[in-house]
Amino acid sequence: MKNITFTMIKPYAVECGNIGTILDIIITHNFKIRAMKYTRLSRSQAEKFYSVHKDRPFFNDLVEFMSSGPIVAAILEKENAVNDYRELIGSTDPAQAAEGTIRKLYGYSVQKNAVHGSDSDENAIIESNFFFPTFERY
Ligand code: CMP
Repeated sequence: MKNITFTMIKPYAVECGNIGTILDIIITHNFKIRAMKYTRLSRSQAEKFYSVHKDRPFFNDLVEFMSSGPIVAAILEKENAVNDYRELIGSTDPAQAAEGTIRKLYGYSVQKNAVHGSDSDENAIIESNFFFPTFERY
């Protein structure tokens, strides 16, 4: 059964000019783009999106970074989307990520790790709803 995951191409990967290459990898691996936008999170939107991490020591830096410049947000559809996408992007820390993964190729640090990917089907729905109303999905 097809399901969805949610991704963001983060500010530093956008700044480095990697939007096209990252989207190409995603499409080549058979993820269908159901929704997509080029946007910038306000500080309060970033705080809300990452609220699950609000008690972590890195929360303020994370919010600062994620609201520092434009991002690309997208809903991706595929069988086993959440797990397959997590495999495609690799470990949170690019230094630990497997060869060929998006974070290994385009990540710079744990914070500037190129892309976000949902960690569960439940969060994929919550995160997708955060960015996209029904009429922006195709
Ligand atoms: P992401 O997949 O967007 O989900 C939460 C983000 O928090 C994660 O990617 C990292 O960029 C960031 N993060 C997680 N752990 C740390 C950490 N120990 N130090 C700094 N940033 C972190």
